[in-house]
Amino acid sequence: MGIRAKITGVGHYTPEKVLTNQDLEKMVDTSDEWIISRTGIKERRILGEGKGSSYMGAKAAKISLENAGVSANDIDLIVVATVTPDMFFPSTACLIQEEINAKNAWGVDINGACTGFLYATAMGAQFIESGRYQKVLIVGTDKMSSITDYTDRNNCILFGDAAGAVVLEPSENEELGIIDFVLKSDGSGKDYLYMKGGGSLHPATHDTVDKGMHYLFQDGRNVFKFAVSGMADITEEIVKKHNVTSEEIKLFIPHQANYRIIDATAKRLKLPNEKVMINIQKYGNTTAATIPLGLSEAYMEGKLVKGDVLLLAAFGAGFTWGSMLIRWTI
Ligand code: ACO
Repeated sequence: MGIRAKITGVGHYTPEKVLTNQDLEKMVDTSDEWIISRTGIKERRILGEGKGSSYMGAKAAKISLENAGVSANDIDLIVVATVTPDMFFPSTACLIQEEINAKNAWGVDINGACTGFLYATAMGAQFIESGRYQKVLIVGTDKMSSITDYTDRNNCILFGDAAGAVVLEPSENEELGIIDFVLKSDGSGKDYLYMKGGGSLHPATHDTVDKGMHYLFQDGRNVFKFAVSGMADITEEIVKKHNVTSEEIKLFIPHQANYRIIDATAKRLKLPNEKVMINIQKYGNTTAATIPLGLSEAYMEGKLVKGDVLLLAAFGAGFTWGSMLIRWTI
């Protein structure tokens, strides 16, 4: 093993406006009890009109740079994971680059849905490990409220808006940093979770808008089945590959889509509740932001110590899924 990439800074941003289960009870035929028992969610944050995902991403990015003690000028590359870019182009990475004044960086968006942050981090880490770059900024940001139909009770209870970011730099200690990742995708999942309107197949027309094609659609029951086995299998795969025991794992930071999916994965790994990062009750599913948000909150709460083994995992639209092992560095 040559150079390893390590996380040297974390940050997150959540909008102030809170949408509670009680608020949703007034909007659709649902109940606080149903939402909590089926998903674990109590409230989520909403960004509101006039601002896009880049706004939240830039806020999280600035905090992560400050945390790392890195100047925006020194960033070589910005990788942004999002399914809700401000617009198709220019990329959200370019918008964030301008906002944080990272004059010497180039940037790109990637769409890996809920697995986006793991995809982006794995990609960014390669530029560090190859020795080409010294400082890479990874941002996961999603304004899910912008593609949510607030008359559809199946979906509007699930999602929220947030961003998280990490700074990657080379690790001088080979034992510390991103140890490994396992990433997968399976396009046969396209029929279960999608947003069909607005792309090149179904460009925006009055008809696509009337049909609600610019909203996220999810066949929740089927996605749930794939997510439970996908997350559990891929975490087990990476843990077995590296002979990591449940005792050695300090914290499991899973994508936050449903408390029951997280619980099933934790049980398969025999991880007690205190080793699982759960903040779905406060934020709902924020897609590409859930993992950096969980990581940043865990760090700010003092839960992480240098040398701790962290396990990350996600499952999302595509289907896409993945896991990552990290030995914590800050
Ligand atoms: N309030 C009250 N009742 C509701 C609501 C609601 N908000 N929503 C659905 N129901 C009803 C349904 O209509 C259904 O009624 P029926 O039995 O009469 O048809 C009943 O409750 C049960 O519905 P299910 O869909 O079977 O409920 P389930 O227990 O599967 O929970 C949920 C739904 C929460 C969506 C779950 O399926 C889930 O979490 N799925 C996976 C989500 C996921 O992991 N997504 C991937 C990441 S997201 C991304 O990539 C963007």
